[in-house]
Amino acid sequence: MEKVTLISLRQAKQRRRGISMLTAFDHPMAAILDSSGVDIVLVGDSLGNVALGYKSTRSVTMADMVHHTKAVAKGVKRALLVADLPYRSVSVKNARLLLRAGAQAVKIEGLKGVRQIVRAGIPVMGHLGYLPQTMKKPKVQRSGDLIEQARELESAGVFAITLEMVEPSLAAQITSAVRVPTIGIGSGKYCDGQVLVTYDLLGLSLWSPGFVRPKADLKNAAARAVKAFIRESN
Ligand code: KIV
Repeated sequence: MEKVTLISLRQAKQRRRGISMLTAFDHPMAAILDSSGVDIVLVGDSLGNVALGYKSTRSVTMADMVHHTKAVAKGVKRALLVADLPYRSVSVKNARLLLRAGAQAVKIEGLKGVRQIVRAGIPVMGHLGYLPQTMKKPKVQRSGDLIEQARELESAGVFAITLEMVEPSLAAQITSAVRVPTIGIGSGKYCDGQVLVTYDLLGLSLWSPGFVRPKADLKNAAARAVKAFIRESN
């Protein structure tokens, strides 16, 4: 399988081939995703609540992101590796730190700072809709302003846009309004690709959003294996 590039992602949209993106926070998971053929591996700041036990993604630091991006980079060969710039960390300097840790692109929630980072030659994925870093409760986003915001991101030079919890018919309109691929999470099927938090997909998360349909039940499988080990140890 060929290496995923910014160009091949744009071609995927033109050819209507669905793009897949999943999160990884460590080396083994990154290797599983990469060898399974996922297009984009995301070191998301969901790292905070999913893997580090933080209450919110707002507590995630640049040090956390650099540490986990380094681990994930060791397992990614074919996929494009994208890392989130965490809350209040959007700057060219921090984007460069993530690239040095092994990311090939950064993802930024909202519009602020995007143009400056693209101008510095760093590939940026946009993120619109529900923005966990700045919005309190997860809620489906219905504002028509999102179409204009997506156009703004496209003109700023992003190579793709994540749409989180955008009302599906609005997500479809945004997808038609821009030439860069849209990658939806809880935003219906009319996006150019789909993204999930891998722990949610595998049934490993302690909590996951209502729109997720897990494809495995690894939490219970793990508990059963641990109980079997305890029994055999007695
Ligand atoms: O942090 C994350 O995992 C994300 C996805 C939910 C898109 O941004």
